[in-house]
Amino acid sequence: MNKVIVTGGAGFIGSNLVRRLIDDGVDEVLIIDDFSTGKEENLDDSPKINLVKSKLEDINNLNSMFEGYDFCFHLAAGVGVKYIMNNLSESILTNIQGTHLVFEACKENNIPVLITSTSEVYGTSEEKSWDEETKSLIGPTTKLRWSYAVSKMIDEFLALSEYETGNLKPIIVRLFNTIGPNQASEFGMVVPKFIESALKNEDIIIHGDGSQSRSFTWVGDVIEYFIKLVELKNYGEIYNIGQTEEISIKELAKLVIETSESDSDLKFLSHEDVFGDKFEDPSRRTPNIDKIVEATGIKPSYDIKTMIKEIVEYKRQN
Ligand SMILES: NC(=O)c1ccc[n+]([C@@H]2O[C@H](COP(=O)([O-])OP(=O)(O)OC[C@H]3O[C@@H](n4cnc5c(N)ncnc54)[C@H](O)[C@@H]3O)[C@@H](O)[C@H]2O)c1
Repeated sequence: MNKVIVTGGAGFIGSNLVRRLIDDGVDEVLIIDDFSTGKEENLDDSPKINLVKSKLEDINNLNSMFEGYDFCFHLAAGVGVKYIMNNLSESILTNIQGTHLVFEACKENNIPVLITSTSEVYGTSEEKSWDEETKSLIGPTTKLRWSYAVSKMIDEFLALSEYETGNLKPIIVRLFNTIGPNQASEFGMVVPKFIESALKNEDIIIHGDGSQSRSFTWVGDVIEYFIKLVELKNYGEIYNIGQTEEISIKELAKLVIETSESDSDLKFLSHEDVFGDKFEDPSRRTPNIDKIVEATGIKPSYDIKTMIKEIVEYKRQN
């Protein structure tokens, strides 16, 4: 990989990926980002970065722009529960139309592409741990939050269909909750929100009763997997990327308070109060990661206590 494209490269995962690619010695990174949720300050000042500030869907010459690149990481998407609920149709269109345009440009230039799907595609599956073949249980369309999951499923179908016909070399990763430096708090991401409240000694707002559990993965581990998957060239495959250690949201809030030595209190609000009646939330979300661990030989390295400690430190300094 010498010349790499990262769509959504100014976002949380994208900016961490770009830094890693430059550290690894790539010659050039083309970033396409409209700054809808990403930020320019997430990016280092490097002559290797070629930044195109635009919505993907507005670029007329994407096919020729991609010419000469070796690999594409397609991360641009409407992301974050709060952002999606506030920008419903725009997020759906970005996730489908934007991805279609990226695939067309990758096909035209024979560029392999890694796409970031999501644990949301499993919906509210009652299976104990979700592997890549687990049946999805998506809620009704009246619960509009599922539009994100379904738009990502369409991306997966599109990628796999193009792969079947020999037109595209896709690698699909389904990311479970990823956390780390540069993750914005304003679009509904739980960890940065909790930590910012704790550092200001403000109430930590929990949606629901806090018994819902999640598993969190360190962004550095996620990127380690990305880099290894590029080397492996297992096109047409889907991989869960996540951690198997579960924590309830209430326990997470307590851990944040303890780690940041905060005087914050917990405050509980119903999902309906926060998002209205178009919302529902899975009670747990834990991946089976056997496939990715077997393929790459890599296990996630950070546990939840280490992650929270690192992010508290990072937030104190930024
Ligand atoms: N962070 C997680 O826990 C998580 C979990 C599952 C899946 N994902 C997926 O990983 C990818 C990266 O997510 P993230 O957490 O870094 O979010 P993010 O919001 O920080 O990054 C998305 C980036 O894409 C850009 N973008 C959005 N729409 C665009 C458009 N139409 N044209 C150009 N740029 C656009 C945004 O400005 C932002 O910089 C996304 O595809 C997301 O769906 C993330």
